[in-house]
Formats: sequence, C-alpha cells, structure tokens
Amino acid sequence: MPSTESQQNRLKEWFPHTSKPFIANAPMLGFADYRLATAVTKAGGLGFIGGAFDFSPSSTQLAKLDSELIKARTELGITDSGTLPIGVGFITFTPSGFEENVVPLLEKHRVSAVWLSFPKEDADHGPLIHAIRDARVKSEWSVKVFVQAGTVQGAATAAEQGADVIVVQGTDAGGHQWARGASLLSLLPDVRGSLGDVYDVALLAAGGIVGGEGVCCCVGSRRGWDCYGDEAPASIKDSIVKAQDGAFSTVKSVRHDVFQSTDVFPRQYDGRALVGISWNDAQSGVSDEEVIRRYDEAIKQGDDHRRTVWAGASVGSISSVLSVSDLMEQIQQEVKLTTASIMGCI
Ligand SMILES: Cc1cc2nc3c(=O)[nH]c(=O)nc-3n(C[C@H](O)[C@H](O)[C@H](O)COP(=O)(O)O)c2cc1C
Repeated sequence: MPSTESQQNRLKEWFPHTSKPFIANAPMLGFADYRLATAVTKAGGLGFIGGAFDFSPSSTQLAKLDSELIKARTELGITDSGTLPIGVGFITFTPSGFEENVVPLLEKHRVSAVWLSFPKEDADHGPLIHAIRDARVKSEWSVKVFVQAGTVQGAATAAEQGADVIVVQGTDAGGHQWARGASLLSLLPDVRGSLGDVYDVALLAAGGIVGGEGVCCCVGSRRGWDCYGDEAPASIKDSIVKAQDGAFSTVKSVRHDVFQSTDVFPRQYDGRALVGISWNDAQSGVSDEEVIRRYDEAIKQGDDHRRTVWAGASVGSISSVLSVSDLMEQIQQEVKLTTASIMGCI
C-alpha cells in the first residue's frame, strides 16, 4: 500500500479543492442532501449526497438526486459542465438497475466520486465498479470509486474489484454497519496489513471519529451541522448533543430497524443508534407488536421522539452544534496537534 503521505497526496491530486487532512461527510441517505455536501466541499472536504437504494427506472430517489445535483452545481457557482466536486453514495443490496439508471445519471452530472455500501454479499460490487470504470474511460470522466467495508475480507474484495478508495468502517460507527465487525482500532491496522503492498488503494477511516484523531476520515454522527438535511427533525440534533457515554447510550442491533418497520437490510448488517423509548419499552417486556404499534401511533400524531436516532459510540464527545466550516477547521487543527501521538492513523 502507498504510505500515509502518498495517500494524502493522491487524494489531494484526485480532489484538488480539498485541504489536508482529507475529510468527507458520510453519504447518509435521507440526511446528507446538497446543502450539507456543498458546505463540506466549500470548507475544503469532499461533500457526499446520500443518493438511493432504489435503482429502478421509476425511482423517486433517483429523480430527487437528479435535482439535488443541479442544485449542488448552482450552489457551488460552477457554470460550465466540468467536474462537480461532490460525491454520491448508494446502498447496494438490491443492485439491479445500477448500470442502466444510475451510471448515466452520475456521468451526466460529472460527479467526482461514487460511494458504494452494504452489498448483499461482500463480493457483489464487481459489476457496479466495472460499469463505473467503463464509463469513466469512455467519456473521460474523472470519477473515483469509494467502497465502504467493515471486514478485512470485504476490503480485500473491494480492492480486488477496482475500488480507488476503501472506507474502513469500524463498529463504533453510527447507522448501519457489519453485524460481525470490530472497532477501527483493531480493523484499520488489520486491513492495512492484509492489503500489504499488493493493492494500490487509499484508505479512509470511518466510525467514531468526531475530532482530530483520524487522519483521512469520514464523519457521520458528528452531523449536528447547521445545514443538516431537511428531513431531520430538531429533536435528533438535541438527542445527539445531550447524549453522554456512547458505550452506554448507544447500542448496536437490528432491532432499531424492527421497531420502526425499516428492517430491509440483509442479516449481515445491523446498526448503531441511541438507546431510545422503543428500546427501553422492549427491555421492560413490551412485545415487538406493541412497540411497533406505539411507534406508528406516535408518528401519526407528529411525534418524533420514538424515531431511531442513528448515532455512533462517540456521541459522548459531541456537545455542541457547529457549522460545517467551523467543524472542518476544528478537526484539521486537532489533527495538526495530535498527529504525533495517534495510533490508528492511516
Ligand atoms: C444518520 C446516519 C445515516 C447513515 N447513512 C448511511 C448511508 O446511507 N450509506 C452509507 O454508506 N453509510 C451510512 N451511514 C454510515 C456512515 O457511512 C459511516 O460509516 C459512519 O457514520 C461513520 O461513523 P460515525 O457515525 O461515528 O462518524 C450513516 C450513518 C449515520 C450516523
């Protein structure tokens, strides 16, 4: 693998508007819209929009993505049809339609990066990566492929299949993740060691990073940013800021999805979220049917307090809502101060 320094240089070369260390926001579907992504890009990171998991021709997610990408270009003041310094993320466990309906859309908008996550099997990104790489050669499109992996085997497969960047996701992460995984502290060196000198990829660390401990990092839970997506109720920001001791106040389980009837991910994934009302009800013996009924009733009444708040184990360190530019500056400053003593850096 290239050294840390040369990975940093390569990311800078691929995404010239970014500053060092490289920081990206996670492409959180339903949470990371064009406003968050453009704010991150403007602040010197790589902004990602959460794109879609439905790749059918009639997908409303893809129609929305099309208009989000137009808004992103306008927001960044890019008037020509050149590269858009924005990436888009996709959840891939139902990959059908990706090649026909997604790749042409991304190519039309000349996005800089595509982030693939949560395949049915660790290996089934092959055809998707192939389709993107094919289009990039044919139309001189300078797009890079990011693949999120939560196991050593998944990372090796992604490298083998032609990913340019592997996002190494540890189990401290907020949101969906590999049910059998490990924290970044163990996973990152393990991935690095197993890829050895064979693969020419860059690594990006994700999971539990809210400050300067990560050198090339992706930030998800630290999302109490001022331009947070439309769909997020204010109660989510409040709960994240108020939560302390992420080891105690978050839990990794499939049940967060069960309680709100969103249990659609393959069984190799679960998710980390705040311990909430539904979780506590179930712990005190309320049946799943009744928890789901209470959830549905609350949503009908316009009450968000039972909604799953996807958040990582590091929520305890999030005590304020910062603007994107302040947060990026803070993380970069902290990296400069702590680089000498970090362990898990790439
Ligand atoms: C609210 C939320 C939504 C997420 N949605 C997605 C998603 O749609 N696609 C994806 O690849 N990862 C998603 N993730 C996981 C992130 O990619 C990333 O691994 C994680 O946020 C990093 O850990 P952190 O939350 O501790 O920063 C989500 C995370 C959160 C917190």
